[in-house]
Amino acid sequence: MKKILEVQDLKVHFELSGGLFSAKKIVHAVDGINFDVFEGETIGIVGESGCGKSSLARALCGLNKITSGSAIFDGKIDLAKANGKQWDEVHKQVQFIFQDPVAALDPRMTVAEIIAEPLRTLFPDMKKDKVLEKVLSTMKLVGLSSNQINRYPQEFSGGQCQRIGIARALILEPKVLICDESVSALDVSIKAQIINLLQDLQQKLKLTIIFISHDLGIIKHICNRIMVMYLGNIMELGEKRALYANPMHPYTNALLSAVPVANPNTEKTKKIQLLEGELPSPLNPPKGCVFSTRCPKVKDECKITRPIYKDVRDRLISCHLVN
Ligand SMILES: Nc1ncnc2c1ncn2[C@@H]1O[C@H](COP(=O)(O)OP(=O)(O)OP(=O)(O)O)[C@@H](O)[C@H]1O
Ligand SMILES: [Mg+2]
Repeated sequence: MKKILEVQDLKVHFELSGGLFSAKKIVHAVDGINFDVFEGETIGIVGESGCGKSSLARALCGLNKITSGSAIFDGKIDLAKANGKQWDEVHKQVQFIFQDPVAALDPRMTVAEIIAEPLRTLFPDMKKDKVLEKVLSTMKLVGLSSNQINRYPQEFSGGQCQRIGIARALILEPKVLICDESVSALDVSIKAQIINLLQDLQQKLKLTIIFISHDLGIIKHICNRIMVMYLGNIMELGEKRALYANPMHPYTNALLSAVPVANPNTEKTKKIQLLEGELPSPLNPPKGCVFSTRCPKVKDECKITRPIYKDVRDRLISCHLVN
């Protein structure tokens, strides 16, 4: 399968100015990660709040600066070094869908203006009737009616606003959609509708989707592969079924133990594995394995050396205890 994205040793750090008398501090939001994304797949990113999911996603579409490493898009453009013209190309191909559908839409613009905005920015010479034609066909694609074209976002429900957000992302006919908690703010039935819409669109348009969510049930439903992050690092990455059936990393194990199971017999025997302590600060990540301060299986070497991120059987994993 073709790689649409090749990420190598990618770091996204934020510098916090320490004030007049204290030193600058560095937030290690994403701290040297490696993964590929294959064309047409849905790859899920999970992990506790603050582990760097959004920092990574935003870096992949130019909303955060890449500190070091590389992210090669479509075998051609290194996002870490891309110039203005290359970013224009990436923005046509990689689109972002935000968490809060209502806040993401400008209340002063009509639906047509919102959906047309990326076209008007990146293709300023496109004729008005061509723009309108594309707006209408994209609205139809996401299940919005053409008679809603002159209405304002505040006249729509949260689910409809997310459809507008998806239409705006799709009007450029991108190859990659990055969904950062894009359904988290919606209620259960609307969430299901938007998930189904994304799945339909993926099939129809052969999209690649990077899907970030706290909801491990949705991730299991929609994704082909899953990447588990902890404190700016990848702990485990593998095919969905294998990872859910046999989590190898102690962190994945703890994370998945909290997912409710539909089968009541399984539920009785399964215990939620609670992790002790707080997520350490990305300002000062632990030496050795970043998970060592909370790992129930920690050994001495885990506290000293950072594990190598390696292939173990059917997946990639970063743990001294798994070989
Ligand atoms: N612009 C910024 N400046 C400084 N620190 C930042 C910035 N953006 C993110 N961070 C910090 O980077 C770390 C990772 O944040 P990020 O938003 O990527 O986490 P996340 O996994 O998306 O969390 P959540 O699940 O809550 O959305 C956090 O400690 C956060 O405070
Ligand atoms: Mg986030």
